Amino acid sequence: MDRAKRKIEHIQHALSTADQGESGFDDITFVHQSLPDVRMNDIHLHTTLGELSLSSPFFINAMTGGGGKKTLEINKGLAEAAKHGQIAMAVGSQTAALKDDAERETFTVVRKVNQNGIIFANVGSEVSVEDAKRAVDMIEADGLQIHLNAVQELVMPEGDRDFTGALLRIEQIVQTVQVPVIVKEVGFGMSRETALRLKEVGVKIVDVGGFGGTNFARIENKRRSSIITYFNNWGIPTAASIVEVVQTVPSLAVIGSGGVRTALDAAKAIALGASAVGMAGPLLRTLVEQGVEGLVAYIEELHHDLTLIMGALGAKTIAGLQRVPLVIRGNTHHWLTERGFD
Ligand code: FNR
Repeated sequence: MDRAKRKIEHIQHALSTADQGESGFDDITFVHQSLPDVRMNDIHLHTTLGELSLSSPFFINAMTGGGGKKTLEINKGLAEAAKHGQIAMAVGSQTAALKDDAERETFTVVRKVNQNGIIFANVGSEVSVEDAKRAVDMIEADGLQIHLNAVQELVMPEGDRDFTGALLRIEQIVQTVQVPVIVKEVGFGMSRETALRLKEVGVKIVDVGGFGGTNFARIENKRRSSIITYFNNWGIPTAASIVEVVQTVPSLAVIGSGGVRTALDAAKAIALGASAVGMAGPLLRTLVEQGVEGLVAYIEELHHDLTLIMGALGAKTIAGLQRVPLVIRGNTHHWLTERGFD
């Protein structure tokens, strides 16, 4: 099957596949504070992610890669919403555009629409250093995401079957490209073992891309009759994954993503130690159903709601929100206890 068709099918199935709600955020409860001692006007959503300075912790996570006119329109809409909502945005995998110049416009449109915004390039861990640099240059990116998606590839009969050398290539890319590198999962979560290995090769920012939101095992299974069901529930739930990475490698800047669906989920991800939160599936759905204006309104609502939650907790800043007390119950508690976290 050609790549463009596959990308369109990913979008269609992402829109029609319900989230499973197993990200673990429901296991987190904030400890209410009756004396928040904060003026709402003093609350700021500014955050830092390694060297990157962001006016909002929310960003549009990587979605549509090559796929012709339809994905170009989607990328344009996402870029307009990112500009007006003043949030960062990652483009989808640029692999197709590195091979075929005709695909470049799907990505360059994002920079054209949003000239001063923060935009992340996106490639897989199979690319060469040279191609990683080309992906960054293509959209004058402020950062580079390298996605790790071994399980998604395994579920696809036409997917990659050789995963060797990825860590070495990541090390070379980190040493060579001029922008911060974010290594991300795509919905299966990141373990502390992976985070440690990434840190050892110089990675400073990771996106846990945890289980509980968009599920590429289920999406790939929907696209075909031969179904590999044993990967459908595979992965580290996002809440547990954030704790795994934050507590094991405190020097890493962590993005919480995978099943972040509300400002409350985002607040919980940050309180667990994330510095920013990525959202993909729900933003795509909002764009398709409600257009750019609807997506901008949604982003503004997320900002408004997060500000109210921070007010209730007495946290004036994202750094303050990272320190508020919380209680962890249920499966997330069980997971963290089994894995030796306090
Ligand atoms: C994705 N995602 C993704 N990630 C990536 O690094 N490169 C890519 O090309 C894509 N493509 C893509 C297409 C579509 C249609 C969706 C919905 C998602 C994964 C995405 O960035 C994110 O990690 C997961 O979707 C989990 O986040 P949500 O959707 O649960 O918020």
